[in-house]
Amino acid sequence: MKIAPSLLSADFGNLDRDIEMVNRSEAALFHLDVMDGRFVPNISFGFPIIEAVSRKATKPLDVHLMIEEPGIWVDRLAKIPGVEYMNVHLEAARHLHRTVQAIKAAGMKAAVTLNPATPVGLLEDIVADLDMVLLMSVNPGFGGQKFIENTLEKTRRLRALIERTGSKALIEIDGGVNLQTGAQLAEAGADILVAGSFVFGADDPIETIAKLSEL
Ligand code: DX5
Ligand code: ZN
Repeated sequence: MKIAPSLLSADFGNLDRDIEMVNRSEAALFHLDVMDGRFVPNISFGFPIIEAVSRKATKPLDVHLMIEEPGIWVDRLAKIPGVEYMNVHLEAARHLHRTVQAIKAAGMKAAVTLNPATPVGLLEDIVADLDMVLLMSVNPGFGGQKFIENTLEKTRRLRALIERTGSKALIEIDGGVNLQTGAQLAEAGADILVAGSFVFGADDPIETIAKLSEL
C-alpha cells in the first residue's frame, strides 16, 4: 500500500522536522490539504507553505485543493517543483473536463476528489482521463474525524468502474485512516491511503507509516 501522510496534522512550528520525518519514512507522497474557508469551513495554508515543503521534500507532492474554482490555479501550482498530483473536488470544478485537461497540459497528474455523498457514477465520462480518484472518507475540512463506513462499498464500486472503463486511475482514500480501516480499504481495492492524525499523533510516526505500508 502506498501511504501519503497529510501535513495538516504536522506541527507547523516544526515543519522542517516533520518534513524530514516523512522523507526518511516509507511514505510514497506528501499530501497537502489546501482550504479556502469557502468550499470547506476551515482555512489551512496556501502557496508559501506548498513552496516551502517543495524545497525540502524528497518525495512527490499530492496537493488536495479544498477550494472553489480550483481551475484558476493550474499554472501557478504547476510552477512548483515536485507537485505530482493536482487534486480538485468534482463539487468545486464546474467545468471539470476543461480543468482536467489543463492540469495534464501543464505537466501534472490529474486527480479528482469526491465528497462522501457524491456518487462514483458521476465520474463515468471522465474517469478514463484521470490519473487518480480520491474518495473522501470524512467530510473535508478537518483532520481527526471518524471514518465513514460507506466508503468501503464506494471503493468497490469505483474499482469496478475503473476496470469497466479501462481507466488507469489509482484509488486514494482520505480521512479516518488507521490500521483497522486501512486493512479494510486495502481489501476493498484502494491503492493509496492518506493518513494525518494517525501518523502525526503516533509515538513513532516512521514505524506507523511502515505498518500502514504493509497493508
Ligand atoms: C480532511 C483532509 C485530510 C485530513 C485527514 O479535510 O483532506 O487529508 O488531513 O486527516 P485524518 O487522517 O486525521 O482523518
Ligand atoms: Zn486531504
